[in-house]
Amino acid sequence: MKIELAKSAGFCFGVSRAVDLINSLLEQNVKVCTLGPVIHNPQVVSGLEERGALIIASPQDASEGSVVVIRSHGVAKCVYDDLSSRGQSFTDATCPYVSKIHNIVSGTINAGATVLIAGDPTHPEVEGIKGHCQGKVYVFNDIVWLKKLTEENPQLKTERVIVVAQTTFDTDEWDICNEFVKKVYTNAIVFDTICSATSIRQQEAKELAARSDIMIIVGSRHSSNTQKLYAICSRLCASYHVEGADELPLERIKKASLIGVTAGASTPAFIIKEVLNAMSGLDNIEEEDFDFATALEMSFKTLSTDERVIGIVAAVSSNEVQVDLGIKYAGFIPANEMTDDPLIKLDQMVKVGDEIELVVLRVNDQDGTVMLSKKKVDAIKSWDDIVKAADDGSIIEGIVTDVIKGGVLVAVHGLKVFVPASQSGVARNDSLDALLKKPIKMKIIEVDTGRRRAVGSIRALQKDERKILSDKFWSDIEVGRDFTGKVKSLTVYGAFIDLGGVDGMVHISELSWAKIKHPSEVLTVGDNVRVYVKDLNTETKKVSLGYRDKGENPWTTFTDKFNVGDVVDAKIVNFMPFGSFAQIIPGIDGLIHISQISEKRVAKPQDVLKLGEIVKAKIIEINEDKKRISLSMTEAAGGQINEDELGENHAAEGEQIVAPEADELGENV
Ligand code: F3S
Repeated sequence: MKIELAKSAGFCFGVSRAVDLINSLLEQNVKVCTLGPVIHNPQVVSGLEERGALIIASPQDASEGSVVVIRSHGVAKCVYDDLSSRGQSFTDATCPYVSKIHNIVSGTINAGATVLIAGDPTHPEVEGIKGHCQGKVYVFNDIVWLKKLTEENPQLKTERVIVVAQTTFDTDEWDICNEFVKKVYTNAIVFDTICSATSIRQQEAKELAARSDIMIIVGSRHSSNTQKLYAICSRLCASYHVEGADELPLERIKKASLIGVTAGASTPAFIIKEVLNAMSGLDNIEEEDFDFATALEMSFKTLSTDERVIGIVAAVSSNEVQVDLGIKYAGFIPANEMTDDPLIKLDQMVKVGDEIELVVLRVNDQDGTVMLSKKKVDAIKSWDDIVKAADDGSIIEGIVTDVIKGGVLVAVHGLKVFVPASQSGVARNDSLDALLKKPIKMKIIEVDTGRRRAVGSIRALQKDERKILSDKFWSDIEVGRDFTGKVKSLTVYGAFIDLGGVDGMVHISELSWAKIKHPSEVLTVGDNVRVYVKDLNTETKKVSLGYRDKGENPWTTFTDKFNVGDVVDAKIVNFMPFGSFAQIIPGIDGLIHISQISEKRVAKPQDVLKLGEIVKAKIIEINEDKKRISLSMTEAAGGQINEDELGENHAAEGEQIVAPEADELGENV
């Protein structure tokens, strides 16, 4: 036969704290009155009574000069008021998990809301919670009760409702009720207030019961959490609820192969020990299979600040991770002690059951809690990585957490590395705020091992990365190859494109088939663009790029569509002393020589034409080589060429016709 004791059997920290508080008052010879039995355990209660602790039902029963102890279950607000109005000294041993519920139901945000409490309506904890509510209160003990309550009070579905649970409520039943609440009470705000000590204990009991032949649950029959443990275990195997060793059904359990033992939060260690000792007298027990001494010793172990411990993740919420340290203290890691990365959710970092290495930050004996840090452990490991990176140039990743004078701070697993502005990779006039909260990679360029300080450089890494990309670019680049690049900057003569490690330039004349005055008419810094290599110089490492779509060449469109002799509608776009340029299609202008404007003599084109005016003009010449088109309004109108004007004003043969805006092109295109 094997006997296995659940890790969390016995006093929880809330009960320990209350009992320790009374013991300490008694040791100081203080007259102690407890408002009701301090815990649901007759042996402990009578032990305290024997030492002078008096159990009273209400503040008015307190003996003169005594200190009233409020037990871990907590009390209603009116009890505090009563104690204060009487000037009665009191000390509050309400478990922090219970106080949290009082705060929720009485908080200003929830004031006036209807409160639904999942719990035993006769339990003192639930009575206390009710006494802190400011609006209507309903209590339900299970899903059947909740459904009935909903049927009888249909108006609740539309009211502002908050739902809380007694700290020791059955976690499985809570999940079922919660599902129902979510479906039916669409306005409800649900607070999972089952204490972690309870959920851990119930989970352990469930796991142990699932693999045991018999479960023994030790604790008072009045103890709510012990009753819950019994209910949970009996669903999974034959279970016996005993208050002490004398109630053990020894005959019935002696044939079992594995007996699991758990105990309620108010069951003292000595009773558990008596139960275990009684079972150890059974035939064939394999004593070596359970080490009660070690288990007990562990459960009472205390911790000190900076101690390294291993914790098993018991629960993960949005703002903390709760861990089981195998001792009576409840361990928790606040979110900011898990990571510096504000983007990572805690449930992405750890899951229930994970084993993590931690450092103790603070032990709170009053609350029975231990605040822990994972970040600190990570920081120790992280420093070793940083020193190594400074030596071998390896890459370090981190999150930018602060912009400070002269640079940024990067969090690297709990350590901060300073990156000067000049090493940030951000342009001189740009704000470093763009890096804030962003994950970055960097090289470590300086470490001070004595002061554990490090300086990083994002730029050094970017430089290395660009060098690799640049080498690759020049190793297989060729004219005509297409690239996707990012517009890095614009100047009057073109746009610089980052091709990834190498910058190339698109000349302004290559940006558009139409005439443009500035690259910003076509591109914006930051645009991703498709370009192709027009020309390369491997010596000077210069790359000329093309951007215009060859398929959209307007000259091709023009020659496909028009021939000499066609009459077109052309738009007057520019005046010269010798004639006027007119747009035939976007990107293609033809010249109407001054002699071709009218049969009459024209002194200046603008005397008879207006910019933007649409005129009928005949195509009288198409020069494929020079990409020039000559137009004639006179011929379109059926008239003759004015030879006089032609002789006087026509550009000499071979003379370049240059319009001011067309100087890049030197042609009609
Ligand atoms: Fe407190 Fe939970 Fe114990 S509420 S008293 S720690 S069972």
